[in-house]
Amino acid sequence: MKFQGTSSYIATQDLMLAVNAAITLKRPLLVKGEPGTGKTMLAEEVAQALNMPLLQWHIKSTTKAQQGLYEYDAVSRLRDSQLADVDGGERVKDIHNYIVKGVLWQAFTAEEPVALLIDEIDKADIEFPNDLLREIDRMEFYCYETREWVRAKNRPLVFITSNNEKELPDAFLRRCFFHYIKFPDAATMQQIVDVHFPGLKSELLAAAMKTFFDVRGLPGLKKKPSTSELLDWLKLLLAEDISAEALQTKDDKVAVPPLVGALLKNEQDVSLFEKLVFMQSRNR
Ligand SMILES: Nc1ncnc2c1ncn2[C@@H]1O[C@H](COP(=O)(O)OP(=O)(O)O)[C@@H](O)[C@H]1O
Ligand SMILES: [Mg+2]
Repeated sequence: MKFQGTSSYIATQDLMLAVNAAITLKRPLLVKGEPGTGKTMLAEEVAQALNMPLLQWHIKSTTKAQQGLYEYDAVSRLRDSQLADVDGGERVKDIHNYIVKGVLWQAFTAEEPVALLIDEIDKADIEFPNDLLREIDRMEFYCYETREWVRAKNRPLVFITSNNEKELPDAFLRRCFFHYIKFPDAATMQQIVDVHFPGLKSELLAAAMKTFFDVRGLPGLKKKPSTSELLDWLKLLLAEDISAEALQTKDDKVAVPPLVGALLKNEQDVSLFEKLVFMQSRNR
């Protein structure tokens, strides 16, 4: 089992190395990086490349670790017990019918090896990663309601992503292989764009890339645009049939790009950019 990138996902050498290291170590791969740098997509692509089904668990601020294991649906059982004469009361006798299996349970009991994505773990509260230590380490947990151990038949390939909104506990980090997806350099970005827009006119691409990296390089931005924003913007430029010339001023100075709302997502950043353009025009 080796991951070598796919035709729709550009993986740098060190990212491939990290994926394969996590596979070898049989540890979760913890992927950090700016939003929009392809963390979620990595899990999808690796699963596809290695021909494994992918189970996804998208974490919210209210998500509890227990939900990934199982939940006991006591309300349904109570209701069914009150209606017991209707279906003969068979269903209600077996507590297994009221255990709702979470993604970890499903991953552990799958017949074939699966990939498991725990997406945006930093959204959850601080106890969440600690609550999953044993499950991730030993690949087993106990179900109190049915009095059974749920143990992994095959160790799932685990991806954990984080946008770095919270620090993760040391005990948790110790159990993972870590990789930070650096923001792509211009050459890598070019490859990513090629994957999404094959046959894009080279003048437009060059002008758009220059504008994009100019915008990103602006000191003091609150939210730098990332890969997914560049792709959105290019899509719009193509849809609106905007030419390369419209993105450049003749003397190669920065101009406010058309459809800037795809790149800059708050008013302070837009006005910062406008100020820069204004100052340049005065210095001309
Ligand atoms: N290396 C890459 N190769 C191809 N597309 C990419 C790559 N990185 C990012 N993208 C594009 O950016 C979008 C956002 O990626 P996503 O995985 O959702 O980012 P994240 O989870 O890091 O916020 C993807 O849908 C994809 O279109
Ligand atoms: Mg994501």
